[in-house]
Amino acid sequence: MKPARVAIATAIGLLSVALSTALPAAPAGASAPLREHAAAKGKFIGTALATGPLASESAYRTIAATEFDQVTAENAMKWDATQPSQGQFTFSGADQIVAFAAQNNQQVHGHTLVWHSQTPGWVQNLSAAQLRTAMQNHISTVVGRYADNPVVRSWDVVNEAFEENGSYRNSFWYQKLGEGYIADAFRFARAADPDAKLCINDYNVEGINAKSTAMYNLVRTLRQQGVPIDCVGFQAHLAIQYGFPGDVQQNMQRFADLGVDVRLTEIDVRMQMPRDATKDATQATYYRNLVNACLAVTRCVGMTIWGFTDKHSWVPDTFQGQGAALIYDENYGKKPSYNAVHDALAGGTSNDTQKPTRPGKPAVSDVTGSSARVTWTASTDNVGVTGYDVYSGTTKLAGATTNAVTLTGLSPNTSYTVHVVARDAAGNTSDPSDTTSFTTTGTPAGDCTATYRLVNSWPGGFQAEVSVTSTRAITGWTVGWTFPGDQKITQLWNGTHTQTGATVSVKNASWNGRPPATFGFTASGAGATPSGVTCTAQ
Ligand code: XIL
Repeated sequence: MKPARVAIATAIGLLSVALSTALPAAPAGASAPLREHAAAKGKFIGTALATGPLASESAYRTIAATEFDQVTAENAMKWDATQPSQGQFTFSGADQIVAFAAQNNQQVHGHTLVWHSQTPGWVQNLSAAQLRTAMQNHISTVVGRYADNPVVRSWDVVNEAFEENGSYRNSFWYQKLGEGYIADAFRFARAADPDAKLCINDYNVEGINAKSTAMYNLVRTLRQQGVPIDCVGFQAHLAIQYGFPGDVQQNMQRFADLGVDVRLTEIDVRMQMPRDATKDATQATYYRNLVNACLAVTRCVGMTIWGFTDKHSWVPDTFQGQGAALIYDENYGKKPSYNAVHDALAGGTSNDTQKPTRPGKPAVSDVTGSSARVTWTASTDNVGVTGYDVYSGTTKLAGATTNAVTLTGLSPNTSYTVHVVARDAAGNTSDPSDTTSFTTTGTPAGDCTATYRLVNSWPGGFQAEVSVTSTRAITGWTVGWTFPGDQKITQLWNGTHTQTGATVSVKNASWNGRPPATFGFTASGAGATPSGVTCTAQ
């Protein structure tokens, strides 16, 4: 039971009935966070959360809290996290996620109870009878812990039960218990929390294919047998090089017609690295199509993105050479895909699929050490252009509502190559404009220059070297940069360094203040080449 939630829901229900007779639903403001637009459409918009950055990074917490109204633990509720050895339950990570959600008025989707992966060896080694008992105990303990918690609303009871050809996955669950383990798991979960929505979840089931049809047939059979299954999750781990799956809306609709809710549970859209503007634009189309598919299906209750920042994504670790799958970049900058999700959630129930025309080549004027004015010939659109974004490579420098903007916060004496992308209310984005390059004024050129080179990297660490040159006689130098992640210098030679968070400053040693000079270091973390390495001469 979830008494608190039932009471609150009833109260809100009465309140909204009372209000709706007096006031029209207030539309969310054009630049409102995703969760406001989603709520106005009666859907949730969620993210997976990782406990590490949730504890250590305020930018991560702020975006997670502001933009999303639903969260899923990326790993913290899996069996290996919650019952690593038999009978020893640990809920520190799970509780951390649930507490964050409660603070931020977010609902939690529990992920996941019965899965072939991230399940400890001790479970896999049990006999059939012991395994069934362990499954019941695990489900009743984990689900039971949050049964009275009003924020935990739903569970992935069974995850990834099918092979690609539609046969049951030949997992240890299936081998030992046969297909009946699925119905058993749902019954155990219902017994542990009669109010939670209970889902089956899988990947490569977004379109109509052998696997999704097998899942469809299972759900229909389970419903006919009275097995308590309430919802179906479509993971939606997509990749732009494989094409957008056809029929997402139609596929979700056929499940919905069985009487279950549907949801997109683990959205990400990866690409072959490196990123570029064209891949970003394609990715944005995939995100927009997914959101529009959910919006078009009444029983699609919402959608969850599998993390939100490319800084913390499972993709680069799992799919070699691929990445950039999420809607914020590694520096928490919004990508075109953020705009696509935003505009699709904010848009009307538009069927507009026509992109705006390509903006003109940008013209740059009034360049200073930190700013520049950029103007371009406006785009046109069959419905209407709602805005533009100005990029330098894949980094968004500014958004604009008209065909002009002043870029601020630029670095002195730095070359920028900019292009413009137009968007419309349905989230369609134009092809990128031609590029224009300019260089900011500022620090006199030639004082000193630092060149950073990644020498070697290995799992968990790397070595890099920085060479300093100067065109005039200087007596000292300070080199600075910001690491893209949690890299930490462990040892540095031929200089003295300080590191605060990701920000590093290196001063010359007593003997090499006059370039050319080279220093080197080893660091923990993923091998990184930071952009924007600065050098200041003394
Ligand atoms: C992934 C996590 O993102 C990774 O951090 C972890 O190492 C492996 O699992 N399908 C699922 C998710 O249901 O639980 C998986 O999450 C991604 C695929």
